[in-house]
Order: sequence, then structure tokens, then C-alpha cells
Amino acid sequence: MAEGASGCFPEATTVSSAPFSSSPLPSVVPPVVQTPPRTSIADLGDRVGERVLVCGWLHHQRLLKAVDFLLLRDATGIAQVIVEAADLRAVTQALPHESVLAIEATVVAAPQAPNGLELHDPAVTVLGASVGEPPVDLFRPEIPAKLPTLLDHAAVALRHPKRAASQRLLAAAVEGFRASLRAQGFVEISTPKLLETAPEGGANVFPVDYFGSTAYLAQSPQLYKQIMVGALERVFETAPAFRAEPHDTTRHLSQFLSLDAEMGFIHDHQDVMALVTTVLRGMMASVSGETRALEAHGLQDALPEVPPVVPQVHFTEALAMVGAATGEDLSAEPDLAPAHERWLGDWAKQTHGSDWLFVTGYPMRKRPFYTHPDPARPEWSNSFDLLFRGQEIITGGQRLHEYADYLAALTDRGLDAEPFEGYLEAFRHGMPPHGGFALGVERLIALLVGAPNVREVTLFPRDMQRLTP
Ligand code: 4AD
Ligand code: MG
Repeated sequence: MAEGASGCFPEATTVSSAPFSSSPLPSVVPPVVQTPPRTSIADLGDRVGERVLVCGWLHHQRLLKAVDFLLLRDATGIAQVIVEAADLRAVTQALPHESVLAIEATVVAAPQAPNGLELHDPAVTVLGASVGEPPVDLFRPEIPAKLPTLLDHAAVALRHPKRAASQRLLAAAVEGFRASLRAQGFVEISTPKLLETAPEGGANVFPVDYFGSTAYLAQSPQLYKQIMVGALERVFETAPAFRAEPHDTTRHLSQFLSLDAEMGFIHDHQDVMALVTTVLRGMMASVSGETRALEAHGLQDALPEVPPVVPQVHFTEALAMVGAATGEDLSAEPDLAPAHERWLGDWAKQTHGSDWLFVTGYPMRKRPFYTHPDPARPEWSNSFDLLFRGQEIITGGQRLHEYADYLAALTDRGLDAEPFEGYLEAFRHGMPPHGGFALGVERLIALLVGAPNVREVTLFPRDMQRLTP
């Protein structure tokens, strides 16, 4: 945070010298900020020997005989404040955790203290009173509570340094996604989330009352991002997607953040996989800049490398390998269950030293109607999943692009073309070979920080049991 950007007491001590003006043009007079500028806790190292103003939350106190150690937390870190004066100790000892304080104090180098610094001779002002102890302990390295308690009390639990750090990593991943795609000529789009037709098919849609008729919350931006290839060639979107997932699993949410991209003039899905690889490298580079957040998770030297060429295995080979290893007969209903994906993740790590593995060529009948078949083997598709540490985080592939192929694909699946008219119009009037992918970013971050449940890194998760907070 830039130091000097603001004080902690803007309303209390900000004086505007602009009188009421009857002039039609407002007179712009900058406010005079009288407080000393605020210093971020992360920047205290530059201010040793100086008197500073720090503002934040009362993280914890250790009360000793002659002195109290007060820990103050802001968005950038935690500082140790030494409270010695008896009258001040009487005040601060009575403050509940999470009270919001402004503290003027002197920065002193103290090699034994956290970050090698202490704040001495504090003057403390309460900016935001806390009316009782928080429902969960935020000062411990891990909150000692089960996930449902953490989610019930998200408003407070999200302040925990590790949980806040996960959100910084997620934001950096999204930023890296955007930056990488923009650098490659992709244009950001924003498509409707209230739809007349479910784009991915299946039963996992949320119907909503739409002025007396039924609309559906978008399961993905799939149809719109394809249409927009016709206008912009390369597009991306970062937006919520909604799935009425009736399963209570550790990786399914009713609402997740879908990072979608789509591009025209590809040869086949291999071009999309090359794009995925570049984008993932950009995302990891962006995440690597979040030093403090990575440290909070002990990940400063442990970010997974994305190899320039991610290993890949065809679905049929994957099935054969897993079947041979587990003794299961997977030929009857060819699919990869989560346990099979985990096996493949371990295999990729052992054989290729990679946390990432593409599985290509999923059976056409397991994929949505817009999927392009493998021209050489039409029961298999030109589509792929990307597994990260043995879990699907991306699905993508080449799409059909000929109008007649869409009509045939819809008929094959017993789907009526009429509800797709607005989409099919794009194909009636010339679309290039194209493809794209979607990444569920909560899954990526959960796997990155080693969270066993995707809800741990989701701000306010929505699932079968949870619609609040
Ligand atoms: O695999 P999905 O369903 O693929 C699509 O939506 C296609 N339109 C993608 C494409 O461009 N062809 O979803 C894509 C990703 C999954 O790999 C997963 O990471 C995430 O979105 N995802 C979920 N994340 C959390 N909760 C859920 N219920 C999710 N459903 C999908
Ligand atoms: Mg998928």
C-alpha cells in the first residue's frame, strides 16, 4: 500500500476549505489532511527511528507482568506494539480481539521481534469498537474450527491471514489470465447470465422466474464466447457460472468463477492446449509476485512449474493404464472417475515430473453437442481436460463450426434446434475453425494451497446446503 495515500481519520480531521458555492461550476479545492500519513505495516522497515501512524485490527495481545505485547494487523502484515504505560494497558487489555485501532508509535529495530521491528511509546485511538470476542480465533496459525463453522462466520474468518492470502492468490491468478490473453490479442467480453436455453445441457441448471416465464442461470458463457469469435476472433471472459450440482463434493460449487477463452483459426484442439499452457505460465508468473501471500501458505519456493510442453495422454491410453493398474474393467462405460484422475496425476508426476497432465480425446458421447470429433476416429473428440495434481481444472477443445454439423449434432442428441436459433445464426453465416477452454479458478487455488475443499478458498461458497452468508 502506498504510504501517505490516506490518513486513518479522514472525516474527523479532514478540513475542506471549499465554501458553499452558488457558481454553476463546482470549485475544486483539495482537502487538507491534518493527520500524519498512515504507514503500512509492511513498510515499517523503512521508518526505523521515526514516529509513524499505523492502523489496523487488534490481532492478539500477550500480557506479561510489566508489559503487554499487542499485535496489530493490517492488510500488509502484523506489527508488534509494546504497551508499558499502566493507564494505557488498562485500556488496551479491555479491548476485544479485532477492535480497529490507530496507533502512533516509534519504530524500533528489535531483532527478536516478528519482522525484526517493534513499535514503542504508542498512543492508541479506537477507530472501530469490537463488541465482544470474535466467533473464531484468528490469531492462531490455523483457525481451530471445522469448515462449516468457518463458512458460517465467513465475515470474520476471511480475515485470517492465510484465508485472506488465498484471495490474493486467486486475484493474481485471474489477473495473470487476463494479462496473458490480452497480450495475445484477446478481447474481454461480458455475456448474459440469464438465459433462455441451458448451454451445456444436462439437469444441473437453476431455473429462475423471469417475468412469468422460466430463465436459467448460465452454466457457462460457452455459446456466447463462440458467437463472439465471429466478431472478434479471440475473446475471454472471467465471470461466475452456475451449476445446480446435486452432489456434496469437495470440488463442486453451485457458483464458481469460470475463466473462459475462445479463439478462431485453429488447426485443432492442440492449438488450444498450447494456448492453455501459455496462459497457465502467465497465471503462475502473476501468482509468484504475491510474495507475502505465498509466504502465508509456505509456498514461496514451492510454486509448481508449468513445463513449456505439458505432457498429454489420449483418453484410451489413460483408460488402459488406469485399468491395468487398478484391475478395473473400464471398457463398459468409458469414463474417468475422480480416483482415476488422481492415479493419472501421480503417474504424470512420477513419469514426467509434471503437476499438469492433458487427457485428450474424450468420447464424443460424454461431451456436449458443440464438441468437434476427431476426424480420424469419430467416436473420440478433439477435446481435452487438464488435470492439475490429479484433478480436472480445465475442460476445452475444438468446436464444430459448420452449420450443417450443428444441425446433425443437435438431431443426434434429440435436441430441438429452435431454442439455439440465435447461436446457430453465427454458423449459418460463416465461422472459422475454433476452440477454447474454461478453467475453474477456485479448484486451481485450492489445489495450489493444498486446501482439501474448494470452499476453503471461495469467499462465500454456494452449495446445496448454503445460501448465506
Ligand atoms: O468442464 P466444464 O463443465 O466445461 C465447460 O463449461 C465448457 N464450456 C468448457 C469449454 O470451454 N469447453 O467446466 C469447466 C471447468 C471445470 O474444469 C472446473 O474447473 C470448473 O469449470 N467447474 C466447476 N468448479 C466448481 N464447481 C463446479 N460445480 C464446477 N463445474 C465446473
Ligand atoms: Mg469438464
